[in-house]
Amino acid sequence: MKTIVALAGDGIGPEIMASGLEILKTISAIDQLEFTIEDKVFGGAAIDETGQALPADTLAACEKADAILLGAIGGPKWQTGSETPEKGLLALRKSLNLFANIRPITILDELVKFSPIKEEIVKGTDFVVVRELTGGIYFGEPRRLSPEEALDTNVYTRKEIERIIRQAFELAKTRRKKVTSVDKANVLATSKLWRSIAEEIATEYPEVTFENQLVDSVAMKIIQMPTAFDVIVTENLFGDILSDESSVLAGSIGVLPSASHSDNGPSLYEPIHGSAPDIAGENLANPLSMIYSITMMLKQSFGYFDSAEKIEQACDQVIAAGIYTPDLGGKYGTKEFTQEVINTLQSTEEK
Ligand code: NAD
Ligand code: IPM
Ligand code: MN
Repeated sequence: MKTIVALAGDGIGPEIMASGLEILKTISAIDQLEFTIEDKVFGGAAIDETGQALPADTLAACEKADAILLGAIGGPKWQTGSETPEKGLLALRKSLNLFANIRPITILDELVKFSPIKEEIVKGTDFVVVRELTGGIYFGEPRRLSPEEALDTNVYTRKEIERIIRQAFELAKTRRKKVTSVDKANVLATSKLWRSIAEEIATEYPEVTFENQLVDSVAMKIIQMPTAFDVIVTENLFGDILSDESSVLAGSIGVLPSASHSDNGPSLYEPIHGSAPDIAGENLANPLSMIYSITMMLKQSFGYFDSAEKIEQACDQVIAAGIYTPDLGGKYGTKEFTQEVINTLQSTEEK
């Protein structure tokens, strides 16, 4: 029996979480998997209920879980207060030491036509952004904000850089064996250290092709030649920006999942997008980001590769049949799309 903590969060979070958990229930029945789902409040919903975005009880449940699923947090309602949903998310990542955020950018052939980029450029795109998640300018001290002056601090230690670069090389070994380390070493001290450590570690992996690139030009190349990349490893802020940029290749950010790992504790799986307040509560959200976050969980936390593949194949089939949510130009609601995936999973199993 595996315990999964489900943090639905805000905006479209509860809608896509409900969808993902229904898929998990369906595959559990088909493959006789046993999961206990513990729902916990988090983000804006938790601020409303307890005054805190990450209540102690939620954190304690996450620490004990076998894996954590997160929908999304945030929204205009909570942006002005001193406690914000985003602070809760950062505190959760830091408390669980989730330093390695894996964001796969795989463009399914069926989705190529939704990309704003020409087919011949985008077809075959399959890379992973390995984003450092617990350091850098998101967490550096001091920080302050006054009407006259504001300060953020970007700090990286050797240890933080080494462990994320190693994760990238280990991942590349299982893929097309190429690592692109992204920095701003022509300007930033943190990037100069980053680059020198990346070069050191690269020598331990002679079988992996290694390159350094500057973040500004990588932002361009991701659009110009996305198939040139295999594993991109970069610091927290650059990874945040480049992964949202990369999502455009897929036609919608609503199809992209992520996994965040520590050295030994539970991993967290969440879409790369946010709470999409503009479409929340309207049954318009694409649940694929959550469904793929769940297939990442099945593979990476539990080793249930066959079950994950069944779900992925069912999604492929549904997409190939022209069934999409509105972000991809389709007419299906979140619930209707989810039901199609469930029907496909069940009917494949009956055959
Ligand atoms: P967003 O990612 O929520 O939305 C950007 C655009 O993408 C919107 O037009 C939205 O409708 C669309 N979109 C996102 N997910 C979609 C889906 N599954 N299906 C269809 N369309 C989808 O970014 P934002 O609007 O800048 O941020 C909204 C809030 O979310 C902010 O409070 C932000 O801090 C928060 N946020 C949270 C997370 C997280 O929980 N991990 C991540 C990013 C942003
Ligand atoms: C993400 C989000 C978060 C981040 C915000 C909501 C704190 O944009 O998960 O990509 O910047 O890490
Ligand atoms: Mn982001």
